[in-house]
Amino acid sequence: MKQKVLTILKQNKGDFVSGQAISERLDVTRAAIWKCIKQLRQDGYGIESVPNHGYKLVVNADTLTYEEIKGVLKTHMLGNKIVHFPAIDSTNNWAKKLAEQGEPEGTVVVAEMQNGGRGCSGKQWSCQSHLGIWMSVILRPQLDMPSVPLLTQMACAAVGQAIESTSNAVQIGWPHDIVLNGKKLGGVLTESSGEIDQVQYVVVGIGVNINQTTEDFPPALLEKATSLRTETGQVQSRKALFCAILERLESLYLSFKNREGFDLALAYCKMHSATLGHHVSFLKNGITQSGLALDLDAHGSLVIQLENGEVQSLLSSGSLTLL
Ligand code: BTN
Repeated sequence: MKQKVLTILKQNKGDFVSGQAISERLDVTRAAIWKCIKQLRQDGYGIESVPNHGYKLVVNADTLTYEEIKGVLKTHMLGNKIVHFPAIDSTNNWAKKLAEQGEPEGTVVVAEMQNGGRGCSGKQWSCQSHLGIWMSVILRPQLDMPSVPLLTQMACAAVGQAIESTSNAVQIGWPHDIVLNGKKLGGVLTESSGEIDQVQYVVVGIGVNINQTTEDFPPALLEKATSLRTETGQVQSRKALFCAILERLESLYLSFKNREGFDLALAYCKMHSATLGHHVSFLKNGITQSGLALDLDAHGSLVIQLENGEVQSLLSSGSLTLL
């Protein structure tokens, strides 16, 4: 019903439509129409109401519903279905549930807010309402488990390319951080299920801070985290960036069959790396070691040259620290 009311308001954008006319068209009471108007305002739509004139849509919400996205998104497969929540614990949790139930590849779960958002290494991920992009993409690649980290690199490259196309060049902090001006702007949490030689599904969770101001971050995060708005000084369109990310991700993903997508993704992550060339310390097999981050190998692992000259590769970030 809410969607039908919105469609009528959009058909008359900039003009008033009376509550009576809407209720007659939809064959519901005026009280029901008023309830929908209240919900639409909560969703971020600017709707004026004037006695004896009715309702007028003045501002479209920067909301990430399928109805708002479908006319803008230029993909063939990713986002053909968008499962949208005003609020949820974690889009990754929901996407995994759907994937277990057989949801096809390409479905995107997106939420305006997460109250149990998860980051890598079991950390919490802070997600305020309507201020960022919190989404999870279901993929079913022909891929073995050890190659799944490549999809994290692919998602980082897609986010980096998308942000670059709309505003600034970012850096990729291996293996899953999106970094802008030395602070964390976003991250990727990839989760998968299947057999060692063939994954059943992969959920690529992407979080990007878009329109937070410094007041929106908890003080403990202020030194480390940032948003596109904070760095550019301008309010950004979440809708435009959401579409750009999915378009870049699809383009890389579809060309991965001949490894081209992976090679392109790895090349992007290397070229924009916030990690390579730095001295790092890390924990491996219970031992803390340090060395120079040299390269990413064909699996997306970080290649590190230890102080004694030995070369090691690291598959997951563990407790990687830049020195
Ligand atoms: C990181 O630690 O850098 C990864 C953060 C990933 C956060 C995103 S937000 C959408 C998706 N749902 C989650 O619960 N986490 C990921």
